Order: sequence, then C-alpha cells, then structure tokens
Amino acid sequence: MLKLPSVPGATPPRPGTPAAEPKTKLDNAAEAATAALGWLDERTALSGTARFVMFRKVPKGTNWFYTLGTSTMFAFMSQVITGVILAMFYDPSPNRAYESMRYINNDVWAGQFVHGMHRWGATVMVIFIFLHMGRTFFFGAYKYPRELNWVIGVLLVLLVMIMAFTGYLLPWDQRAYWATAVGVNIFASAPIAGPYLGDFLRAGPDFGATTLSRFYSIHMLVLPGLIMGLIGAHLYLVIKHGTTAPPWVTAELDEELRSEEV
Ligand code: HEM
Repeated sequence: MLKLPSVPGATPPRPGTPAAEPKTKLDNAAEAATAALGWLDERTALSGTARFVMFRKVPKGTNWFYTLGTSTMFAFMSQVITGVILAMFYDPSPNRAYESMRYINNDVWAGQFVHGMHRWGATVMVIFIFLHMGRTFFFGAYKYPRELNWVIGVLLVLLVMIMAFTGYLLPWDQRAYWATAVGVNIFASAPIAGPYLGDFLRAGPDFGATTLSRFYSIHMLVLPGLIMGLIGAHLYLVIKHGTTAPPWVTAELDEELRSEEV
C-alpha cells in the first residue's frame, strides 16, 4: 500500500486506523466538480430553488398520466434543438427554400435524421399536448385555483397548432404550398376578421414569396418565444399550486372535523 508523506504539524493517525486510499483521477474530477458547483451556489443560492422544485410533495396516487406535461415539454425542447440546426441550412427565399431542404436531406451530415426528428417531433408534440390536456380535464385539474393555468394551457394549444401550420409550408414543395393555401383560405373565409387575417398570413393579397418569409419568421421567432414564455408561467403555477390528486383519491377527514361538519 502507498505510504502518504506526513504533513508537518498534522495530527498523526490513531494506531490501528487504516491508511487512506490514494485518490483516483475520478475522485479528483468529482471533487473539482463539487467545488465548482459550490462556488456557483455560494454566489447564486440556486441549490435551494432547485431542491424546492425537484423535491416537491406529490399527492398519493399520482401515476404515469402525470408525465404527459413533462413529455410535452421534452418534445418542445427537441423541436427547439432540431429547429435551430435546420435553420443553419434552410433558406426561406422562394427560389432557394426547396433546394435548401433537398440539400439538408441529401448532403448535410445527419440532415435527414434531424429533419425527420423535427417533422415527426411536431406530430408527437401535438399528440402529447392533447393527451396532457385530456389528463388535466378528466382529473379535474382545471378547477380552482388552477383555472389560470388551464387558460395558459389553452393558449399553448393554439400556439402549438399555429406552429404546426406555419411549419408545414416551409419545405416549399407542392404539398406544402397547396395545403397551406387551402388553410389560409379557410382562415380568410371567417366572418369579419377573416379577410384581414388572410391578408396578414399571406403578407398581401397573393400567396407567394412574402408569405414564405412571413411564415418562417412567425414559425421560428414569434411562436417559440411566446411558447417559451407561456411554458415558464405554466410551470411557475404548477409549482405554486402543487399537483392535483387523482379524482379517486379522497382526503382522509379527521373524525373530529367530520363530526363538526354534520
Ligand atoms: C407546451 C405545452 C405544455 C407543457 C410543456 C405543459 C407542461 C406541464 C407540466 C410539466 C405539468 C406538471 C406535470 C403534469 O401534471 O403533467 C403541467 C400541469 C398542468 N397543465 Fe400543462 N403543459 C402544457 C400544455 C397544457 C395544456 C394545453 C393544458 C390545458 C388546456 C394544460 C393544463 C395544465 C394543468 C391544469 C396543469 C396542473 C395539473 C395538476 O395540477 O394536476 N397544460 N403542465
């Protein structure tokens, strides 16, 4: 066993105490990481917040249905990451959009994979958000005091649907073009606001070059920003109010209180 040199002035180990094991590289790395986290925490006090968020009490009976909100959040995060990668290669001009998509799929390393993740991820997110909405509805989680969180959720559903609609045009192929043209005409046929909405979405009277850049800016700047802000508010309220117990779990009433109730 390695004999460590004794430090002058240090208390000698008690007889019979086993000598300390020499530190491995892993021990040193773990110590360095702990010290770095300690440094950060001393200046930000974030560990208290993190502990409060991560170790909240949850009611009895919570189950897999309660993971649907977090699943929606992870689907959104995946959309953000893959979307940022696609934006590095995508060109939203009418002459180059289709060509840039072809380039992403055929020539960029893992481009087709990232594009596929983004396209299928959009569908996954829409499925998750509706399942999560269904869970909160059927478990009565929209009731007092969580009405505001329900309203924020409804806004999130709307924004996610508009996100899917605006993204559909971006490949700029025949299907994207005509499906979106039909969608915009449906919006435009709404009473009163319809024609204004149609002009806004087309960025003018005709469906064309300006429509593509308008859809792109709404899809990759306006909506992600709004969705992120609303998810922040949504999670703040989830943490503030705690989670609703499943409807089949009833509170155990104190016998004394029960007798007072009658
Ligand atoms: C981007 C979309 C969304 C994200 C990322 C999200 C995320 C979450 C998360 C992580 C939770 C806590 C865990 C859970 O109960 O699953 C939650 C709870 C909740 N969400 Fe959402 N959510 C979204 C959309 C919606 C929608 C569309 C609605 C309803 C219209 C909604 C209503 C609620 C309510 C009422 C709660 C509280 C549940 C409870 O107290 O049991 N959320 N959400």
